[in-house]
Amino acid sequence: MSDPSSRGPVLRTPFHARTTASQVLEGIDLTDRHAVVTGGSSGIGAETVRALATAGAAVTVATRRPELAAPLIKELSTVPQAGPVQAVELDLADMSSVASFVQQWHGPLDMLVGNAGIMALPSLCLNDQGWELQLATNFLGHFALATGLHQALREAGEARIVMVSSGAHRKTPFDFADPNFERRPYDPWSAYGQSKTANVLFTCGARRWADDGIIANSVNPGFIITNLQRHLSDEALRAAGVTKVDGELVVPAHFKSPAQGASTSVLLAASPLVRGVTGLYFEDNQEAQIVRGDADQTSGVAAHALNRDSADRLWDLAESALPQAGYTRQ
Ligand SMILES: NC(=O)c1ccc[n+]([C@@H]2O[C@H](COP(=O)([O-])OP(=O)(O)OC[C@H]3O[C@@H](n4cnc5c(N)ncnc54)[C@H](OP(=O)(O)O)[C@@H]3O)[C@@H](O)[C@H]2O)c1
Repeated sequence: MSDPSSRGPVLRTPFHARTTASQVLEGIDLTDRHAVVTGGSSGIGAETVRALATAGAAVTVATRRPELAAPLIKELSTVPQAGPVQAVELDLADMSSVASFVQQWHGPLDMLVGNAGIMALPSLCLNDQGWELQLATNFLGHFALATGLHQALREAGEARIVMVSSGAHRKTPFDFADPNFERRPYDPWSAYGQSKTANVLFTCGARRWADDGIIANSVNPGFIITNLQRHLSDEALRAAGVTKVDGELVVPAHFKSPAQGASTSVLLAASPLVRGVTGLYFEDNQEAQIVRGDADQTSGVAAHALNRDSADRLWDLAESALPQAGYTRQ
């Protein structure tokens, strides 16, 4: 398996920003393969579920509210070649919920798509263990889920983890001195960006699982109008160009549809084009260039998110948080 430090030119695929998830999976048969998609009942996650299941995979939608996945499950049950889809309750901010999900899982797991996320909460919120809520949901919960399901991933023989990060990671290195904003003023975008840097660092740290046949890569899906923007003020939505002065929704030209936003996730989860690569960050279906992490960059992956020392340090931090959080392995 290759890793970023030993790689030559970046990995290229024939796909692009406008390719949809189903186009990426055209001709790929995922029958008898098992996938878990967190946050799979809405937005990019729902399109990820739709594409994987339509290609034949058995998909578990891991969601806080399983009833929200009912229409998607019903729709997919009418698609002749689609694999079975079920919804199982999972609250990533609650480590006992993660432990319960892990305990209910039986058999091998081929694909784990860590897609669920929350963005830019206006004020500082903590989970029960005192972790800032975006960091707890977007990173720690997924870390607990992946480590809890490690054995199931190993049993698959060749398994893939996909972490849905964001371009917002570029401005925000992980703050090891104060990850939960105890000593610095809370900032919604720093908190979101830090959690998304943590997503990339996790895939970098997961290189330790390469000998178990498990690869892990991260993705920036691009800009897509979804429920994710629900915490943004009217002013912030107008500034981002997604609403007019009267509040009417506009989709800016550079925004993608959810099906386009899900394409890089399914590329990493299931395409033979990326077989065996681990610890890489993709956007628009291509491996991203490594860039300086600052406000001027509009694409690429920041070097701070691929730093192996930071990845290992974060892994240790998360691992030490789990027992305190009441998280127990099967
Ligand atoms: N949309 C974009 O422009 C964009 C850009 C860059 C990155 N992303 C990333 O893409 C991913 C998917 O976002 P989206 O745009 O599709 O937004 P979305 O429609 O809001 O989907 C996010 C999903 O995460 C779930 N979730 C939130 N908190 C959870 C928790 N504690 N436990 C379990 N599930 C939880 C939500 O479930 P509920 O329905 O229960 O809230 C929802 O299903 C996120 O990681 C996001 O950061 C999105």
